[in-house]
Amino acid sequence: MSSLKNPQLLKAPELLERPRRLRASAALRESVAETHLRPSDFLAPFFVMPGRGLSEPIAALPGINRYSVDTFLLEAERALKLGVSSLLLFGVLPDTWKDPHGASAAEPDGPVPTAIRAARKAFGEDVVIYTDVCLCAHTTHGHCGVLKETPRGVRIDNDSSLRQLAAMALTHAEAGADFVAPSDMMDGRVGYLRRALDQAGHTEVGILSYAVKYASAFYGPFRDAAKSAPSFGDRASYQMDLRNAREALREAALDEAEGADMLMVKPALAYLDILARLRPQTQLPLVAYNVSGEYAMLKAAAMAGALEEARAVRETLMAIKRAGADLIISYHALEALAQGWI
Ligand code: PBG
Repeated sequence: MSSLKNPQLLKAPELLERPRRLRASAALRESVAETHLRPSDFLAPFFVMPGRGLSEPIAALPGINRYSVDTFLLEAERALKLGVSSLLLFGVLPDTWKDPHGASAAEPDGPVPTAIRAARKAFGEDVVIYTDVCLCAHTTHGHCGVLKETPRGVRIDNDSSLRQLAAMALTHAEAGADFVAPSDMMDGRVGYLRRALDQAGHTEVGILSYAVKYASAFYGPFRDAAKSAPSFGDRASYQMDLRNAREALREAALDEAEGADMLMVKPALAYLDILARLRPQTQLPLVAYNVSGEYAMLKAAAMAGALEEARAVRETLMAIKRAGADLIISYHALEALAQGWI
């Protein structure tokens, strides 16, 4: 006996809303999609080092390499062809370049300033060049600022770090960077860099502030890539405590008041709530950093056959955009665009 014979069940239920109507076909779903990713949404991170003809795979980041300036240019050209014109540069220095003060950060012949000049010469205004401004890849101790002995022990000294960070930012501006991106988390660095840039005549050089940067386990692979792990202690006295959300809004408001042109939340995935909460607080462009550990985690799962990489990458990047990011820094970006995953 079939229940379909029951006339009561045959009557259409009186549903006023049928959300499934909008999901009926791929064409329809495309037309009502609320979130889209474009190549220009991405900043492509690059690790550049001294030397020539070098391309070193980074074990912790499968598919990502360190490049000397000449090979970096070839990769930058590939990024441009894929529609990604925003490049974020990180310097990787051999130990012989390092000292306790990170003097090589302000060296005009360092890999980052050299890469800036080369990219500007090769691509002119077709590229937007961002540079990471931080001392950790330049100091022997691997901390993001300079150290000071105090009656309470060794501390990361905020105010003397600012001077060295400003020297680094000026070196990048002189070389032709469009934006400097301080990632050190010293207090007052955005205002300090803004004044230093302005006084040197670099009023047009912008500041993308790593405003909301948490002390995170997800930076592990990056520290291998950039050879920038701290030799003692951790970064908890300058990077943010992962339990705090109101503090993120405060850090962002301070950096905006100090003159930041764009604000970043980092990492992205475990902090999408922070991105979504920050979105209505500011009119500035918001940038999310899909960091190295997030990339490595997904790559490992894909390589283990645990999930479909194309769909997982698309879902990850869409989620970051949907949560409120205008721009996304991601190691997935070039591969995802080249493979048509997004
Ligand atoms: C430098 C810096 C770090 C990252 C970006 N800039 C590492 C850190 O703070 O230890 C991490 C990026 C990533 O994990 O992809 N301070």
